[in-house]
Amino acid sequence: MLRVLVMVSGGGTNLQAIIDSVKSGDITNAELVGVISNNYGVKSLDRAKNAGIDACVVSPKDFPDRAAFNQGLLDKVNSYKPDLIVLAGFLVVIPEKMIDEYENRIINIHPSLIPSFCGTGYYGLKVHEAALERGVKLTGATVHYVDKGTDTGPIIMQKAVEVRPGDTPEVLQRRVMEEAEWKILPAAINYIANSGC
Ligand code: GRF
Repeated sequence: MLRVLVMVSGGGTNLQAIIDSVKSGDITNAELVGVISNNYGVKSLDRAKNAGIDACVVSPKDFPDRAAFNQGLLDKVNSYKPDLIVLAGFLVVIPEKMIDEYENRIINIHPSLIPSFCGTGYYGLKVHEAALERGVKLTGATVHYVDKGTDTGPIIMQKAVEVRPGDTPEVLQRRVMEEAEWKILPAAINYIANSGC
């Protein structure tokens, strides 16, 4: 069984998709061992609790400086002994030490077809605003391994989503989540859990 740790910052709809996929059997050979949020009071924590998954908060506010937070985060991550770490809307820069320790064992979901609309500054609605501004007819989502760059790691899965006339960033964001993110993130976890890599 692959020990999966999910890291979140907000609403956790991707976390929910993972929880639902484990429950339905769309993800096999994987166990959700914990959820770490960097924010208090977010819906992700309720989703974890409702699913009976151990959840905790590691907030920068509880540490004197960034280095202490990074160490606190890594200590908490290590405590779960994860085989795979899933960044599901985790808006914190991953400490380099953690990337070294978990090389090829951290994956991230990004709401565009990398290499379009990715890298520093492309997060949340900004990604979809940029896609609409450029006038692309297809966008989508990407699951990739995390390396020391921003959205530069090896790509695991991608799914394209149509941009429609009249789309707002919010409408497009929702479609990308429904049609791509909530499908390929669980699919990538299932792939890793069953491919022995
Ligand atoms: C998603 O759009 C994801 O691609 C991005 O952050 C958002 C998280 O949404 N990295 P949620 O918290 O899973 O609802």
